[in-house]
Amino acid sequence: MEKVLQPFFTIFDENRNAFTRYSSYEERKLSDMKGYFANEARRQQMEEQGNPIVYRVYKQDVPLKEGELLHCITMIEPGHVDGEFFMTKGHYHLNEDCAEIYYGQKGKGLLLMQKGDRTETIEMNPGTVAYIPAGWGHRTVNVSQHEPFVFFSVWPAQSGYNYQRALDEPFQKKAVVDGDSYKLV
Ligand SMILES: [Fe+2]
Repeated sequence: MEKVLQPFFTIFDENRNAFTRYSSYEERKLSDMKGYFANEARRQQMEEQGNPIVYRVYKQDVPLKEGELLHCITMIEPGHVDGEFFMTKGHYHLNEDCAEIYYGQKGKGLLLMQKGDRTETIEMNPGTVAYIPAGWGHRTVNVSQHEPFVFFSVWPAQSGYNYQRALDEPFQKKAVVDGDSYKLV
């Protein structure tokens, strides 16, 4: 007989910008992001001079079958590589029928999406609920130089991730430092 998944919960810890309980943790340092920033030489130099963490992901794992929902908290550190703000690698879902929802919790972020030659951007503030339709590539950026950007995501367990496609079809818009704010180039 199939094992029954028990109901469960976790709590968002405001001080740590993390779930109080989670089943997996991943961090991405600058060394994990070769080729993602426009100025690769500067990225490499920053990797050699301390290799800072760019973002952290606290995930609740569930069985990877249709109907279940994965969810996580992502925290992107403040910082930039030669003016290009710290961001996630970005990905498409392997299963192009799978959408995703983001909920902004702390800080100021941008959600960059693209599908073919179409691009869309949503500013993410605390309380923003953003819907990423099926088939759109998505990446988040912390556009503050001073505080982390933290958001909650939930997506179908059968989505899968295609990171290579985000390298093969690079995100056309980049968020760069503009005084104490940002601009898209
Ligand atoms: Fe996703």
